[in-house]
Amino acid sequence: MKNIIVSRPQPAVMLITLNRPKAFNALSKALLVEVATALKDAEGEDEVRAVVIAGNERAFSAGADIKEMPESDMPMWAEADRLKSWKTIEGFPKPVVAAVTGWALGGGCELTMLSDIVIAGENARFGTPEVNIAAFSGDGGTQRLPRAIGKTRAMLMALTGEPIDARTACDWGLAAEVAPTDRTVERALEIAAKIAEMSPLAAQMIKAEILMSYEKPLDESLSLERKLLLWQTEDHDEGIAAFVEKRKPEFKGR
Ligand code: HXC
Repeated sequence: MKNIIVSRPQPAVMLITLNRPKAFNALSKALLVEVATALKDAEGEDEVRAVVIAGNERAFSAGADIKEMPESDMPMWAEADRLKSWKTIEGFPKPVVAAVTGWALGGGCELTMLSDIVIAGENARFGTPEVNIAAFSGDGGTQRLPRAIGKTRAMLMALTGEPIDARTACDWGLAAEVAPTDRTVERALEIAAKIAEMSPLAAQMIKAEILMSYEKPLDESLSLERKLLLWQTEDHDEGIAAFVEKRKPEFKGR
């Protein structure tokens, strides 16, 4: 991998570090394909129970690679590999924690919205500046931003291109917590490790069910939630037994 670094700080947690520092981690097609490949690996490996995505202190990611955008011909965002990579990121079933320091702009901000939990470093700046280049957040941003922060705030960000700081992002619901800049990745890893202790089946079901609330009308998602309640897993039996026996559960993902 040339544009990301994949590591395993803990056996159950994969850390994907975006690594194009000179381009502020702009999301080139190659970088997106590498992220999607790493996520496919993480999905296939039972031992991986959560993923953390991070950038560097100056930039989580400055968004789509503007230098890859052609001046005419087919727009670069319609390219199959790019679209497939975003779909893979969107459909990744295990929990993802984003550790956001520095700029999270455009596609970078969209990547944070596809993550399940966002930890913002104090120096984080979230923005959708595409309007400055006569474009818009076309990788899901125009739809996910208002769902995350409401219409008027989404309009403010998208129509002016002005970024917001970490505290505002947290107040508005784009981030769950603000952490000291130099502890952001550590905090994200801590959360991922906590999730990795849980039953992976339960974690993935919770993720799928919460995301349903963005995708389906309430009556439909409520009845699906009720159906999913009928699940019976060895992990659930183990959770109940461990509670009764006053011991730590050992979840096996079955
Ligand atoms: C390509 C980028 C880039 C980007 C920064 N760089 N952002 N390259 N694509 N999105 C490169 C710069 O060209 C420069 O390289 C280096 O990173 C440092 O950037 P500077 O501008 O010199 O740094 P600074 O003045 O500190 O400003 C940082 C910045 C600014 C605020 C992040 O670079 C910026 O505004 N970038 C563009 C952000 C943006 O518009 N994102 C949305 C993209 S569109 P060199 O080689 O010159 O040193 C998008 C969705 C499109 O995401 C729609 C898809 C459907």
